Amino acid sequence: MTHLTTVATAPIAGQKPGTSGLRKKTPVFMGRHYLENFVQAIFDVVGARNEDGGGKTFVLGGDGRYFNDRAAQVILRMAAANGAARVIVGQGAILSTPAASHLIRLNRTDGGIIMSASHNPGGPNEDFGVKFNMPNGGPAPEGVTEAMYRRTTTITEYHILEAQDVDLGHIGRHQLGQMVVEVVDPVADYADLMKSLFDFPALRSLFDSGFRMRMDSMCAVTGPYAVKILETRLGAAKGTVINGTPLPDFGGMHPDPNPTWAKALMDEMMGPDAPDFGAASDGDGDRNMVVGRGIYVSPSDSLAVLAANAHLAPGYARGLKGVARSMPTSAAADRVADALGIAKYETPTGWKFFGNLLDAGKATICGEESFGTGSDHVREKDGLWAILLWLNILAVRKQSVADILKEHWANFGRNYYSRHDFEAIETARADAMMAALRGSLAGLPGRLVEGMTVNAADDFAYTDPVDGSVSKAQGVRIMFADGSRIVYRLSGTGTEGATLRVYLERYAAGPEGLDLDAQEALAPVIRAAHALAGINTHTGRTVPNVVT
Ligand code: G1P
Ligand code: ZN
Repeated sequence: MTHLTTVATAPIAGQKPGTSGLRKKTPVFMGRHYLENFVQAIFDVVGARNEDGGGKTFVLGGDGRYFNDRAAQVILRMAAANGAARVIVGQGAILSTPAASHLIRLNRTDGGIIMSASHNPGGPNEDFGVKFNMPNGGPAPEGVTEAMYRRTTTITEYHILEAQDVDLGHIGRHQLGQMVVEVVDPVADYADLMKSLFDFPALRSLFDSGFRMRMDSMCAVTGPYAVKILETRLGAAKGTVINGTPLPDFGGMHPDPNPTWAKALMDEMMGPDAPDFGAASDGDGDRNMVVGRGIYVSPSDSLAVLAANAHLAPGYARGLKGVARSMPTSAAADRVADALGIAKYETPTGWKFFGNLLDAGKATICGEESFGTGSDHVREKDGLWAILLWLNILAVRKQSVADILKEHWANFGRNYYSRHDFEAIETARADAMMAALRGSLAGLPGRLVEGMTVNAADDFAYTDPVDGSVSKAQGVRIMFADGSRIVYRLSGTGTEGATLRVYLERYAAGPEGLDLDAQEALAPVIRAAHALAGINTHTGRTVPNVVT
């Protein structure tokens, strides 16, 4: 028996979704009415019914972190109570973010709810998150998330069905009140999409020929996807995928694929018996890190190499329409776009800014320095997609990752690049530093710092070439005459104090000086970054917590 109830509630402060939905500590999300208020705000804004009164269809899934299973049941009962007709759910309430984006598009649904805090740790005292994706499969734009936030400030009630849990462990159709819950294999459709883009027979031959790979799924959502695609379908050796079972606390790992948090993978790839290729992905499967034997590939370089070689994969054989990168990402991809004679775009941080470019057919491949790469096959970044594209390129070029990178730098020059993160700074101090920096910009051009002359300094603003919307204050940029650049911005996804991100870049045209250590090559830029912003004076920090 089911029974529809309307529960009286009151606004809860701070339910403001950021660039990737609403993220909070798990106990906060588990607090009284917290999840329910936000989910009701979502349905109030997007509507669970069509104009003709018929119910809408949504996709639901998450990265399997603690509270994922409970939250899924609540969201389903609320979807039913709000009048949705059908919800497509990944078995076990599991869906990687890119797979959710694909299912939203494939089934022409009205959008989807993804439960994830991406690369943030999971567990009873770690992070949880909820975000809404639009019918195009991409994250809700600011206007929509703003409306959801406003709704949370005036909410007085929410609707929920009183019912037993739906059995999400079994694939098939279940009834929840008037609503159909369709439990699907979380991997199958996504794996077919990958097969349509990449040369699976060539990848199979690559593995048959003895090519060795290590894939670290970091006890997060890509485990089942990677095992099915790499080991079962492509014939990679059993055990290629490690940490392949999604766990509620990610096995205590910080599921962020970068050299700091995927250290075991880095050690193996730099060690004496390194496999040919290494990769890792994050909590919800949208990020990736790739590593060659003895060589780390920075995400900015990865984007550039993928753009330069994408035509080698069947799904991109006809070439790219354009390449888009977030502003803090290095200009390496721009050089490729120029060489290919295709359009290039520089957007603010956050995947949602790529959506319009992809929808409008202006760009085919996009990427961010934060280990995010993707294409127009979905409207999210996609970790396994990037890994498979690399594999496809390796299968065709029959060269090592190191040789491919070195050839790339020889052709295009090298954009040395690094990001320094200063985490958990007191918010007021971080804000004061950014304010002082913004106030100093007008006086910077012409100034000599660490032997480099400042050419221009601004606070990045972006006008969307498709809808004309303007996003201001997206990060302070300081550009030097020699092509070096410093970018400062505060993270929009952290859950503790403020995180200052400092992005450092320096261009070497070659042929000399292309194989320095990145931190060494960037030393003067790093010193300039500290001097110009007074990082130590403002924040009390002299060294970053995380360097990527
Ligand atoms: C971070 C990354 C950004 C990415 C976002 C979501 O945001 O820097 O590139 O789009 O996570 O994965 P930030 O914390 O810097 O606001
Ligand atoms: Zn993620």
